[in-house]
Amino acid sequence: MIEHGPRVVLVGPPGSGKSTIGRRLAERWGVRFRDTDLDIERSTGRSISDLFVEQGEEHFRTLERQAVTTALAEHQGVLAIGGGAVMSEQVRQALGGHRVVSLDVGLAAAMQRLQMNRSRPLLVGNVRGRWQELADERRPLYVEVATTSVLTDGLTINQAVDAVELALNQAVS
Ligand code: S3P
Repeated sequence: MIEHGPRVVLVGPPGSGKSTIGRRLAERWGVRFRDTDLDIERSTGRSISDLFVEQGEEHFRTLERQAVTTALAEHQGVLAIGGGAVMSEQVRQALGGHRVVSLDVGLAAAMQRLQMNRSRPLLVGNVRGRWQELADERRPLYVEVATTSVLTDGLTINQAVDAVELALNQAVS
């Protein structure tokens, strides 16, 4: 296990709770939370939606690969990476040796969470159908990179954080 990187990396589809659960977990551990989507927005000065519209998905994915690699090297707290980052083989390889928790979620719970959240350019239009399609396509990749996984359906934020801590403890024992 790589000891100098993030304490944990959270992966999972949009609406799986990476940011909310990650923030609360970081608070509990007294460490910093970092989110590669926010890193990209900060470094470009554009929203993810604007980047997709103005520069296209491929350009976004290049920025995302760089953001993940940098964060894995620099960040020592809790790191959340964008839901589509695992589509890159480079990202999957870079995650090797790190503690990675896959946050899993069903369609209904994801839809509830996404309602109150920032816009996702890849889910525009038929949100339910697109989400399901992306989740089905990526699930094997989340499983591939994860050292453990947690189903967050129906859990409060604190319950989900408890479940992540338990899963991490079980994964090392
Ligand atoms: C994406 C998920 C988003 C963001 C971008 C693309 C995806 O992150 O990186 O909109 O491909 O699923 P979240 O998983 O935080 O929503």
